[in-house]
Parts: sequence; structure tokens; C-alpha cells
Amino acid sequence: MIDRLGELREQALGELESIDNLSDLEAWRVRHLGRKSALTQVLRGLAGLSLEEKRASGAAANELRSLFEAQLALKQEAVREAEIAQAIETGRIDVTLPGRAPTLGRLHPSTQMLRQISDIFITMGFEVIEGPDVEWEYYCFDALNIPPDHPARDMWDTLWIDFEAEDGRHPMLLRTHTSPMQIRVMESRRPPVRVIVPGMCYRYEATDATHESMFYQIEGFAVDTNITLADLKGTLFEFAKRLFGKERKARFRCDYFPFVEPGVEMAIDCFLCNGSGCQLCSGTGWIEILGAGMVHPDVLRRVGYDPEVYTGFAFGLGVERMLMLKRGIDDIRLFYSNDLRFLRQF
Ligand code: PHE
Repeated sequence: MIDRLGELREQALGELESIDNLSDLEAWRVRHLGRKSALTQVLRGLAGLSLEEKRASGAAANELRSLFEAQLALKQEAVREAEIAQAIETGRIDVTLPGRAPTLGRLHPSTQMLRQISDIFITMGFEVIEGPDVEWEYYCFDALNIPPDHPARDMWDTLWIDFEAEDGRHPMLLRTHTSPMQIRVMESRRPPVRVIVPGMCYRYEATDATHESMFYQIEGFAVDTNITLADLKGTLFEFAKRLFGKERKARFRCDYFPFVEPGVEMAIDCFLCNGSGCQLCSGTGWIEILGAGMVHPDVLRRVGYDPEVYTGFAFGLGVERMLMLKRGIDDIRLFYSNDLRFLRQF
């Protein structure tokens, strides 16, 4: 048996030596490693041998197969190189032809802005948490002091999911804001919480230059003992300065959101005209950048936080809106219309 293997080895490697093209090489592989090759026959025949013989011949036969495979790989490489060298020599391959540069992708402008804003809050000690895009009505509205008949529900025209509950209602929707995550996070943790939630929001909206049916928001909230409106103002003012420049001024005015009390709207002095009035700020000198407020005591109570012990602030901002302001983009529809002429500028 061992002799037979020696013969096979001699013969196969001898043949391999003189091969100089890939098709002959393939024929060699079939002849010496294929299913009908002598070596395969030997390996198959091992089953009928005594244990002693099996051990000796088996090892030798397997070794031979590995050797054939390794030699084949080496030869393939050599033949290919030789073929390329020949092609260059005869001019079939022109190595002076410039290569084609691969097109590089990049992050979407919304994603870039989202990360830049997140980074600012991360350095201030906020943790990033994401939540579901498909949400229960309870988290999106009820738990946030927006009961079914509350006029505030009109503020968010909603895309509802077909899913029908036993009572025939449709309690599932595409979240209209990231605020439901206030509830989810507080339900699962005890204070202190300091969290931001970046995420896509959806509204049933007739689109125009300032309205899209999908857009990113970043929600932020902090709940602990002794958190006051001063903390809200300090945190958001610092954020605005880091994003829009340290010479910015901030203005807080009353606004209404059912889940905060008091509620505020924050504006910065227009960074284009420095407050003297221009097109960007509609002549007012101020640009609204976000909604915020102190978490409503009823919201705290609902998640089991004692409003006599804990207080907190919350805010929500539109990511695309921040970028539109910063870069002077006048149509929000550009973000999701997949026009590369727009996207390549970022
Ligand atoms: N969720 C509100 C919106 O979508 C923004 C907001 C968040 C306001 C948190 C106050 C506090 O308009």
C-alpha cells in the first residue's frame, strides 16, 4: 500500500511540474484528487484493511492528499501570475490605465447632526437610550397627560397601526414624538435619571418646506432631588452655546405641553444677524430651537416617583431643524428625498 502511494506521488507531482495553464491544472486536479482518482480509491479501500494497516496507510494517504492540495494551490498561483505577466507583456493588460476610485459613502446629514448633538449632552453626563418607533397610545399620549378627548391630541396628527385590540380600538401607532420614552425609562428606573433619547418620529402631515412626515427628535430629561428650572435653563443654554456659538444669548418664554409644568419654549438670538432681524429669524432677532419644561407632577406620580421628593426637567428638539438653522437649508423635504446633489454637500 505504502509503495502504491509512493508511485502515485511520483507520477502526480511529475505531471504537475510541466503544467502551464489553468485548464490543464483543473484536469490534473480531477485526475489526482477527484472522486475517481487513484488516491480517493485508496482512501475508500482503507475500510477493508486491518486496524494496523489502516493506521499506517491511512495516515500516509491523508498526508499525500494534503500534499497534493498544497502543491495545487501553489501551482495555481504561479500559473495565474505567469498569465498576467504575459498579458502585460503582450499589451492585453494596460497597467498605465488609471484605476477607478471606489465611491465612498458617508453618514446622512441627519445622522451627523444627531451625533453632534448627542455628544454635547453625553459630555454633560447624559446617557443615550433608544426606544421603539412603534409605540402604544398609552405611552405616546395617556401617560403624558393627553387623554383621548384632550384637545392637545390634535397637536400631533398620528399614523395609526392596523392592529386591533379586543375592544375594537387601535392602540398602536408610529410615535409622534420621543416623549413616550420619558415614561418607559422612568418606569424601569429609580432616580437619578439623566437620559437623552434620539429617534425617528412620524406624523400624518401634508409635507411642505417646514413639515415632513418623518424626522428625528432628541428627547432629554433629568429627574433627581432638587432639580429646578434653573438646571433646565443652565443645561439648555450651555447646549445652545456649544452648538451655535458661545456668544449666543438665550430666551425662555412660556409655552404649553400637557406633560410639563411650567412649559417653556427656548429661543436663541439669531446667529445670522446677531439679533437685529433678518430673513432667517423673520425679522424678530430670535430663533425658536426647542420645547421644554419641568416634568408634570402627575407624570411623576404615574411612574411611581413621589413629586414631593423628586423633580425633573424635560426637553425635545428637532434634529433636522437644528441643521437647517445651522446650514441655512430652507426645505426640510430635502433630507429624505434621496437627492445625492443635496446629500453630497455634507
Ligand atoms: N414632545 C414635544 C414635541 O414633540 C416636545 C417636548 C418634549 C416639550 C419635552 C416639552 C418637553 O413637540
